[in-house]
Amino acid sequence: MKDYFFMKKKYLVLVNKQNKLDDNYIPSDLIKLKKEYSSKDIYLKKVVKNSFEKMARDAIKLNLVLIAVSGYRSSKYQELLFNKYVKEKGYKYANMCSAKKGYSEHQTGLAVDIANKTLDYDNFENTEEFKWVKDNAHKYGFILRYPKNKTNITGYKYEPWHFRYVDKNIAKYIYINNITLEEYIKSKD
Ligand code: DAL
Ligand code: ZN
Repeated sequence: MKDYFFMKKKYLVLVNKQNKLDDNYIPSDLIKLKKEYSSKDIYLKKVVKNSFEKMARDAIKLNLVLIAVSGYRSSKYQELLFNKYVKEKGYKYANMCSAKKGYSEHQTGLAVDIANKTLDYDNFENTEEFKWVKDNAHKYGFILRYPKNKTNITGYKYEPWHFRYVDKNIAKYIYINNITLEEYIKSKD
């Protein structure tokens, strides 16, 4: 797993229920997103920030507003989030929609949760913004990381708001072939 970080395929790091990051892993070059494209102070790796802001700028030309509602999360914060879900909805539900400490790709600084101006990411699927993002995000290097009907592969339920940076060529390949990151990496092993 570590190899993906330090080789040229660094944006292909696989973090899922089988692949954990070190608890103290903090990505290099985290940069704060511009206020106009974020709901609070949100940090992403530099290339991801720039790609997201480019996508958001292009969306605005179409009267679509993309706002990041979550980006980099420390393992400590992820632990708090997971425990909050368990408390509110029970362990089984929490485990389908939230990663445990060290198992979230938000800790890589490569993942961003997107909403429109309502900031209601839970309803993102039903927005004009989502209609556009799902078919255009790959042009900016992002993939829809937890697609519908892929729970058996990704381990998580459908998350229309969660996008993951992998780079343009790979994102295009994943989009066209309608596969997950797990399937892509397996096919290249
Ligand atoms: N919601 C995704 C799976 C996470 O917590 O990283
Ligand atoms: Zn997310």
